Amino acid sequence: MPILHSQGRVSQLPCLALTGVCFALFGLPTLTFGQTKFVANYDEAKIPEYELPPALVTKSGSVVQSAKQWKQIRRPELIQIFSEQVYGTAPKACSISHELISTKMDAVNGKAIRREVDVTVGEGEASTTMRLLIYTPKNAVKSPAFLGLNFQGNHSVDPDPSISLNQNWMRNRQGTTTDNKANESARGVASSRWPVAMMIDQGFALVTIYYGDIDPDFDDQFENGIHRALRTEAKSIPKKEKWGSIAGWAYGLSRALDYLEMDSMIDGSRVAVFGHSRLGKTSLWAGATDERFKLVISNNSGCGGAAISRRAIGETIGRINTSFPHWFCDNYLQYNENENACPVDQHQLISLIAPRAVYVASATGDQWADPKGEFLACVESDPVYRLLGTDGMGDKAPPQTSPPADQPVAKGTIGYHLRTGKHDVTDFDWMQYLKFANRHLK
Ligand code: GCU
Repeated sequence: MPILHSQGRVSQLPCLALTGVCFALFGLPTLTFGQTKFVANYDEAKIPEYELPPALVTKSGSVVQSAKQWKQIRRPELIQIFSEQVYGTAPKACSISHELISTKMDAVNGKAIRREVDVTVGEGEASTTMRLLIYTPKNAVKSPAFLGLNFQGNHSVDPDPSISLNQNWMRNRQGTTTDNKANESARGVASSRWPVAMMIDQGFALVTIYYGDIDPDFDDQFENGIHRALRTEAKSIPKKEKWGSIAGWAYGLSRALDYLEMDSMIDGSRVAVFGHSRLGKTSLWAGATDERFKLVISNNSGCGGAAISRRAIGETIGRINTSFPHWFCDNYLQYNENENACPVDQHQLISLIAPRAVYVASATGDQWADPKGEFLACVESDPVYRLLGTDGMGDKAPPQTSPPADQPVAKGTIGYHLRTGKHDVTDFDWMQYLKFANRHLK
């Protein structure tokens, strides 16, 4: 059922006539609009009036009453709208080739085999190569796996000096990069986000890729990375609908899965796609577009990810399109300050993963990503999950209110938690994902 909010409109919406952009921190640009800064609304009472577009009513107005109608009519309709209006349309799957780069037989205290495998997407001069860092439990045959993109290079996941140091363009970070390239101090800096031993101990493989191997994270009018590699294939896509970087990263995840389906140590039919923040937006879109992903995990994904855009609380469509113009397609600009005009909202993105398992996580200190909006998107996708024969968020009906911090609602096919703390990925998050994956992937 659509929810109608009528607490009244925010009287002063921020002006998006951008005159200055100042990148204060990595990923957290401070935008100046004329004399004033963008001021996010954090007051529930000032949420604009909105009505959610229904997941279970087709464009022609028919109520979707069966799994068959969902699969044949509504699901393809929604994929098309999200492609044309939000993330952009990606070319069809293309060929890949792969090459084993290194193997270490005694990684993770001798409990895992660690490999680096190069997967090349496309052919010839324009092709692009991503390096997969793969940990598989020793003595296991065909492990289920987590596949996730990382922000700072595979070398940041583990301090092991034999992991190759990524030399592709990287956003500058104090100490760990020099002139937009990683340096030796970057080794292991993101290891708290990737508890490999915890995964290996529970029989899971981890596959991770530096997201910039697929598409460098800056606005270059889609001239490099995957966009360049598939320029010919993308030629016929209308300009305003051309795929943004999120669609590019998601496409890369699907090509990585093409490879994993051939890998002798991984079970390609039991792969969970995971992502944090912009990469959590990416994991949701990858899971929506590629039904081979059996489980989808979105950590603190916020605006353009799991959070309902119409709430316009924390980060808004206008703000995200201004700070990161390359993430979405150009059609998405129409919805700056105009969320109600968008024919879709993010609960429908989660619905596109149904009936496969999905887990959305928020953090108390991450109001920018609108934890409540992320929770509501799960609740609103519950009817689609139930129509498709699953238990949705569990119990007879989804919870009416957000759960207290650190008390996951994860008995069903849609999992959710609100963790105490900041925008990050922690052991607490992974403990929940592992528990959930043990139920859904084994
Ligand atoms: C910024 C951006 C978010 C994004 C985050 C990240 O904060 O506004 O939308 O999720 O960066 O990816 O780190």
